Amino acid sequence: MEIQLWRELLEPYQLAVDELMVKFTYLIKAHRNAGMYSPIEEVNGRVKRISSILEKMQKKKIQFEDIETKIEDIAGIRIICQFVEDIEKVVELIKKRSDMEIKSEKDYITNTKPSGYRSYHLIVYYNVQTMKGNKRISVEIQIRTLAMNFWATIEHSLQYKYRQNMPANIRERLSGAAAAVIALDNEMSSVRSEIMDAQNSFQIKAHIVAEILNTIQNLYKAANKREIVKIQDEFYKIYKFGSVEELERFSRELDIIAEGYRAQGLENYD
Ligand code: GTP
Ligand code: MG
Repeated sequence: MEIQLWRELLEPYQLAVDELMVKFTYLIKAHRNAGMYSPIEEVNGRVKRISSILEKMQKKKIQFEDIETKIEDIAGIRIICQFVEDIEKVVELIKKRSDMEIKSEKDYITNTKPSGYRSYHLIVYYNVQTMKGNKRISVEIQIRTLAMNFWATIEHSLQYKYRQNMPANIRERLSGAAAAVIALDNEMSSVRSEIMDAQNSFQIKAHIVAEILNTIQNLYKAANKREIVKIQDEFYKIYKFGSVEELERFSRELDIIAEGYRAQGLENYD
């Protein structure tokens, strides 16, 4: 196939990957901005390289005209979570969306592959608007923990290095490492609630502080210097010695002061 035709074929897949990256990255930010824990830690995406597509065609005896129906991972999204528990949350989240339709799913977490590979896979239908109009394509979404990802990345490069002949002792050690990953994920799950509490209160605090600073910045335009300095000193004191609840109370008090200025309609207060 000519290079130009490959470009045309792959273009909608690149568009899908770009769009989905924006959508999943948004979800991470939206959770964090709301002071909530994000079940998604990180997202990656890629379009399969032409050489890998050719290799798969050969291996699975796929004709050119069947590429788009038979190769489901031309567009690939990988979602990395901190905890095993997050994986099902992400799956639920995807199932509820109206812009992705589940085509199939594979649970390699409950059913670990003989290699030791673990991940949750979804193939979804996703619509992109191309120059020629609407096109529905398949996208593979792999969801796994940081630990599972670590294992899969190493195993993949070793697979690549040895091709079909991975030495038995390396196979065995990978197998042992896979068992260690399960143990690590379980251990992390058991301290999960504590880790989440710590992350949550950190994020809530960061969120309140950002709001307070924003209000103070706005007050600069309306309030007098002496009052601003007083407010700032008060803020630093609470920030240093106070609890999250005190910060919240301070933030509400500031809002009332700001509302007062807004009501007075004092100069360009926004
Ligand atoms: P592929 O032809 O490899 O795509 O396999 P498949 O069509 O039978 O689908 P499967 O669900 O087995 O694998 C889909 C993808 O999961 C692969 O392309 C890899 O990215 C990943 N994967 C599956 N098995 C393994 C494994 O043993 N090791 C690693 N590192 N990745 C794997
Ligand atoms: Mg694949």
